[in-house]
Amino acid sequence: MTVSDNAAGRARIDARTLRTDRWWLSPLLTFAGLATFIVYGLVRTFMNSAYWVPQYQYLAPFYSPCLSEACVEGSAHFGRWFPDLGFLITPPLFVLPFVLGFRLTCYYYRKAYYRAFWFSPPACAVAEPHAKYTGETRFPLIVQNIHRYFFYAAIPIAGILTWDALIAFTGKDGGFGIGLGSLILLTNVVLIWCYTISCHSCRHIIGGRLTHFSKHPVRYWLWGKVSKLNGRHMQLAWASLASVGLADLYVSLVASGVLTDLRLFN
Ligand code: FES
Repeated sequence: MTVSDNAAGRARIDARTLRTDRWWLSPLLTFAGLATFIVYGLVRTFMNSAYWVPQYQYLAPFYSPCLSEACVEGSAHFGRWFPDLGFLITPPLFVLPFVLGFRLTCYYYRKAYYRAFWFSPPACAVAEPHAKYTGETRFPLIVQNIHRYFFYAAIPIAGILTWDALIAFTGKDGGFGIGLGSLILLTNVVLIWCYTISCHSCRHIIGGRLTHFSKHPVRYWLWGKVSKLNGRHMQLAWASLASVGLADLYVSLVASGVLTDLRLFN
């Protein structure tokens, strides 16, 4: 076989796939997981209530940072930058483009939703239904390349969630206290940080474009640590997605009076 034979294309196989395993299970679960999160996120974004528990200083992650005149008393920790634009432009919408942009352009999520939502392709060695494949070489998917800039935006947002988790250790008398909500918000922010710094862009920013690691021992050390986390990026993507949804749900249930926060101390 010559090189030109190879270049002529793939073998002609009429079956869509020769795989006999349950290759459809992974895209199906991905679809179910992401669709659930999208529906929950839409409901919460436009609910515009039940996001702040003043007694314990719990702020729901979907409403953090709360930067609008519409934010309820005590919840705007970083100022009110935007006017109250009514029920259609709720406070989360000012931050959502950055949070969503980071997840949507993430290397892992791209693979996940290309497979689960667009079948492009649905799995390895399973033909996609589309006639043409242009990849990420032209608009709109070429925009995926700005992921690194969303990573830069994700750092201050993770910092703000860290602040939210710290002030959630407030007790009934205004001093130190621990409730189930404090621990949930803390767990969430740890997972958010792990997901953020396990980002492929972060790994490249730390260890990329170096000719000699030996001349940059600190960056090499950091690169080694980030690379370990990077190997778990998919798991961290799912764990942090679940934790942010569950933390938001817990705070909303406490804020709306459906649940009473379980207090462990004060
Ligand atoms: Fe997933 Fe950057 S690659 S967050």
